[in-house]
Amino acid sequence: MDATLVTGGAGFVGLNLTEALLARGGHVVVFGREAALPGAAPARFARLPGRLEVIAGDVNDASALRAVFAGRRIGAVFPFAAVTAGPEREAADPHGVLDVNLHGLIRTLEAARDAGTVRRVVLPASAAVYGESAYSHAVLDEATTPAVPVSLYGVTKYAVERAGLRLCAHWGLDAVAARIGACFGPWERDTGLRDTLSPHLALATAARAGREAVLPPGLRLSYDWVYVRDLVAGLLALLDAPAPPHRVVNLASGEDFAPRLDACLGVLAARFRGFRWRDAAAGEAATIRVSEARPRGVMAIARAAAFGWRPRFAPVAAYEDYVGWLLASADQGLG
Ligand SMILES: NC(=O)c1ccc[n+]([C@@H]2O[C@H](COP(=O)([O-])OP(=O)(O)OC[C@H]3O[C@@H](n4cnc5c(N)ncnc54)[C@H](O)[C@@H]3O)[C@@H](O)[C@H]2O)c1
Repeated sequence: MDATLVTGGAGFVGLNLTEALLARGGHVVVFGREAALPGAAPARFARLPGRLEVIAGDVNDASALRAVFAGRRIGAVFPFAAVTAGPEREAADPHGVLDVNLHGLIRTLEAARDAGTVRRVVLPASAAVYGESAYSHAVLDEATTPAVPVSLYGVTKYAVERAGLRLCAHWGLDAVAARIGACFGPWERDTGLRDTLSPHLALATAARAGREAVLPPGLRLSYDWVYVRDLVAGLLALLDAPAPPHRVVNLASGEDFAPRLDACLGVLAARFRGFRWRDAAAGEAATIRVSEARPRGVMAIARAAAFGWRPRFAPVAAYEDYVGWLLASADQGLG
């Protein structure tokens, strides 16, 4: 069976994707900065039917990538290694962001091209490609909403999509770009390379510690959060589609999470003693951080539906599932 290469496979999305691929019996090659998967992921993944290889390396090391393709037959690639830079990092180290997100991606595609065995590439674009448009469009549509990325990260993600599709077309690689919505859920952790950790992780951390969470006003604003298990099901739909009906596809919930926030926090409070929450008073520092201060449109999901995918976890169901995972993780030191 052909293997699936996941660069950045020890990161948040990569771990969930790897777990899902292994669960369906796949052979997964994780390539990234980490020499091993974190926490109890190795033990958990060992119980799944698939086969896992973890290879430490840098996506800018062309010979290391060549060796990955030379050592096994790889049929699919998720080139997901990335630096999700916030304002400080992008100002301090713009080259570092471009090196990984864009040049590292191109090096991965070159190795895939040379291997000649790859039948599908799923490119990791992002909701960040909408940038400024997210604040002036109620619905962010792949075809009609202008991409106006603002952050350097968003600019690189747009380049991942455009340059990735262009080069794949030149090189005979069949590619689909996923505009991945902001996600939350199992396996999220600080890799040191993502400056915009989700507020859901901070809320879960406060809940586990039995602490009060003081919410910033930004958490009450319209925002489309996708549960990572839904996201991964969408990524697999893009991987499996024999004839993709679209080449650029939003993967998101298509819904505003904010109206369900209190119900979700109630799910945390029901399972973690001592957890409570309140809105920050005027001038008070919140204990939960969000990067947004303006309401955003939600992402259209009609194109994704054409791949046979739709999100299955409404916000409260997502929180219930996440809490179940957190409790299992706490028992086993996974989190
Ligand atoms: N998390 C989200 O909400 C979100 C939203 C949109 C798009 N995405 C995209 O999904 C992908 C995964 O993001 P994530 O949230 O899991 O990030 P993450 O920070 O959790 O993981 C990033 C991974 O990339 C690897 N990496 C970084 N630099 C590398 C290098 N030079 N060589 C090899 N590996 C390297 C790291 O080792 C890590 O495993 C990224 O392409 C990101 O842009 C994520």
